[in-house]
This record gives sequence, C-alpha cells and structure tokens, in this order.
Amino acid sequence: MSVKKILVLHGPNLNMLGNRDPEQYGTQTLTDLEDCIQSKAPDLSFSFFQSNHEGELIERIHQEVGENEHDGLILNLGAFTHTSVAIRDALEMVSATKVEVHLSNIHARESFRHTSFSGGVCKGIISGFGFQGYDFAIQAIMNGEE
Ligand code: DQA
Repeated sequence: MSVKKILVLHGPNLNMLGNRDPEQYGTQTLTDLEDCIQSKAPDLSFSFFQSNHEGELIERIHQEVGENEHDGLILNLGAFTHTSVAIRDALEMVSATKVEVHLSNIHARESFRHTSFSGGVCKGIISGFGFQGYDFAIQAIMNGEE
C-alpha cells in the first residue's frame, strides 16, 4: 500500500505562532506544530505550505486540482477563513478530502470569526483544540480513506 500523503496549508499570521496571543494560540511555534503533526503520524507523508498572501494560497490550491498527489488537505486559513470567497471557490475544485482546523474556538470569539466561507466546502471543521485539532483532522481523512 502506498504511503498516504497529506498537504497542510497554513494561512496568514500562522508563521507568527509563538508571538501571537498565547491565550488563543499557545506559546509554541509553527515549526513545533509541523513537528508535532509529523511525529503523531509517522507513517504518513506531510507537505506544509504557509503564506500570508491570499493569491499564493489560491495558486497552491490550484496545484491540487485534478491531481491525486495528496489524499487529504488540512487547512487553517487564518483570517481568510472569514473573508475569502476566492479561496473557497478554489477549494471547491479540489476532490481530495478537506478538513478545516482552527487552533482557537472561533465560535467563542468575536462574531466576525463565526462565519467560515471555506468550511462549507470541507468535510468538516475542527475548532478549539489547539494542536490536537490536527490529529483529529488526520483521523477524519484516514477514516474516509478506509
Ligand atoms: C485561527 C482563527 C482565526 O479567526 C484567526 O484569524 C487566525 C487563527 C485559529 O487557528 O484559531 O489567524 O484560524
């Protein structure tokens, strides 16, 4: 059986983890998060991409259209979650299983964070569990693969 591959997309400001509000995001860095993801699922192959630019995220998503490279996508689009119809439209073209993750519980925060444009084209949304949310997303993708 071939190794399952998962693409993890990080949106704006997630490169600043460790410097952002620790009450919401903890004190660990993006590198810590990526190490944690890989160490929790050593049998899977992960690719990571972070950008602060909407267009770059869209172009990275376009690379997945019509491709069978990745079995699943895990997306934390940061603030673009709440604003970007363009990212949603790009994701809609990707057939791999997509799971949206937020470190913080977006529904326990300001009302402008309660809407997710991208969540509607994903299998589901995991929000409020910190790094553990990525483990849940991996499980959701792998369960769908069985
Ligand atoms: C976030 C929540 C968003 O509202 C925020 O803009 C982020 C991070 C989270 O992981 O909790 O940048 O996606």
